[in-house]
Amino acid sequence: MKGVIRMRIIRAKDYNEMSRQAANIISAQVILKADCVLGLATGSSPVGTYKQLIEWYEKGDLDFSQVHTVNLDEYVGLGADHDQSYAYFMHSNLFDHINVKLSNTNIPNGLDPDAARECNRYDRVIRSLGGIDLQLLGLGPNGHIGFNEPCDEFVPGTHCVELTDTTVDANARFFANRDEVPRKAYTMGIRDIMQAKSVLMVANGKNKAQAVKDCFFGPVTPKAPGSILQLHPNFTLVADEEALSLVKDLL
Ligand code: GLP
Repeated sequence: MKGVIRMRIIRAKDYNEMSRQAANIISAQVILKADCVLGLATGSSPVGTYKQLIEWYEKGDLDFSQVHTVNLDEYVGLGADHDQSYAYFMHSNLFDHINVKLSNTNIPNGLDPDAARECNRYDRVIRSLGGIDLQLLGLGPNGHIGFNEPCDEFVPGTHCVELTDTTVDANARFFANRDEVPRKAYTMGIRDIMQAKSVLMVANGKNKAQAVKDCFFGPVTPKAPGSILQLHPNFTLVADEEALSLVKDLL
């Protein structure tokens, strides 16, 4: 299996080291191509990466003034002022602390109830930017990327998904109670992610170990959506020891 996989795996001791390694890779992208398009992710996994980028921006080592961003996903029904929306997350964890132009940032509009219209609009946004240079990803405990949930086939473009019970359970920790977790989301599709020139995933903690094993040490299947990244020509997984705990003998 090792011979087939082209991906790079960077082993980090813990969350902090994972975050620093990932931030280094993103920094290199921004330094090498000042007007790059960054695909961004939410969730607890990339928070440390964003913190590190902010620190280097504050030191004067990074300039985001020409960077464009496209986020992976958004809950349907939540607006940017809802503190659990991904728009709110991006502002509080990154955009409000760096010099990216807000007009250069893109997130699906969770308040548009017309899924076809919003998904088409978002696909056009990605195309108009000329695609994504570097896509940052987290990994759902069930192997999802963005909100591409385990299912029977890979969906290519931006689409509206019905969240699985495991995802609702996993994300309930951020809401007052489980009933408040939205049941639908708009997410970038697998084609959008796979067309990114490079893909960087951060994964940490024991609850990601099974997903890491299923996605990167098993067959490519939409039942483990992240597994498609085995076919990406420039994919890097930065994971901590706990997330790699079920595959350490295979590395
Ligand atoms: C959410 C997001 C994903 C994210 C995943 C993992 O469902 N849609 O993009 O990767 O959660 O989140 P965490 O990093 O908090 O484990």
